[in-house]
Amino acid sequence: MIRMEILYLTADDVRELLDMRGALEVVEAAFMEHGMERVQMPAKSYLYFPTGDLRTMPAYLESAGIAGVKIVNAHPGNPAKGLPTVMAVVVLNSIETGTPLAVMDGTYLTDMRTGAAGGVAADHLARRDAAVVGMIGAGRQARTQLQALSLVRNIETVKIVDVSATTCNRFREDMAELGCDIVIAESVRDACDCDILVTTTPVRAPIVADGWVREGTHINAIGADAKGKEELDPLILKRSRIVIDDYAQATHSGEINVPLKDGVITVDDIYGTLGEVVAGIKPGRTRDSEITVFDSTGLAIQDVSTANHIYQQAVERGIGTRLKLF
Ligand SMILES: NC(=O)c1ccc[n+]([C@@H]2O[C@H](COP(=O)([O-])OP(=O)(O)OC[C@H]3O[C@@H](n4cnc5c(N)ncnc54)[C@H](O)[C@@H]3O)[C@@H](O)[C@H]2O)c1
Repeated sequence: MIRMEILYLTADDVRELLDMRGALEVVEAAFMEHGMERVQMPAKSYLYFPTGDLRTMPAYLESAGIAGVKIVNAHPGNPAKGLPTVMAVVVLNSIETGTPLAVMDGTYLTDMRTGAAGGVAADHLARRDAAVVGMIGAGRQARTQLQALSLVRNIETVKIVDVSATTCNRFREDMAELGCDIVIAESVRDACDCDILVTTTPVRAPIVADGWVREGTHINAIGADAKGKEELDPLILKRSRIVIDDYAQATHSGEINVPLKDGVITVDDIYGTLGEVVAGIKPGRTRDSEITVFDSTGLAIQDVSTANHIYQQAVERGIGTRLKLF
């Protein structure tokens, strides 16, 4: 009888096998495939709980022969219980036989691939001379956003703000190794006085006012990733070049979902996808003075391509535990 084994990779294994440079590379390649329409990726499906939600996210990158699915939650009350807001597991499958090849922790992977998407977006959309980053929200996603930004731009100053002063202080200590000057902003408005603004909060009503965002800013809008969530005053979107990650997902659950429903913007206000920009189908930033917004909902192609990168490294280096399936 044929024996089947799965490679099981813990969060520690994943941390050892994935760094931000690697994540940026595979995530940019995944966006390229998306732009070239060489992926299968039904929009993520949601189960809504009283305290959060649970999503399944399948994807197949046809040219690379990578397929799998991520299961991930978002529970904003979790940190008070000592748990991350977002936790995940990724399963990678063989294209030829469908065999599950690996099961791995997807929590850190999610942080890293989300940071990498922000990095790729900023690389194509932020001004070349962007040096000041404003960050609203100092939780897990904020960390990897900054890691990625520091690899694509010469970041000198970071202005961080969060409703929790303790979280801000911890962020400042933990991110000191990046070597930028991290200052705690006096207010959200103060943090908006920057070249690249990153929003990573779970809020469901805008916290960034239109008048606070100056010309030439690039915004990575990361927090809104479910129906009804939004962080930016929709008037900001009205005067911005809006780049989404995926049409079905962004219109349903991205930063644009509420303004679209309310009729403040229409789908004609969407400039294109990050994949189209990465693939050179549409130009990224064209003027120093324009405001660009990357509306990130998080794509399964980011997850499975990052998981495949981790899996390949694990096999090469003999890391992980082989578990008998049958
Ligand atoms: N786009 C994507 O691909 C993607 C991926 C992962 C998570 N997310 C979303 O990003 C958000 C953050 O996730 P996380 O893992 O960083 O969570 P987290 O709990 O680690 O961090 C969120 C931070 O936002 C702060 N915050 C809440 N309300 C605020 C406000 N009004 N002003 C300033 N700060 C405020 C919290 O204190 C917390 O520190 C969630 O909405 C999550 O669903 C998006």
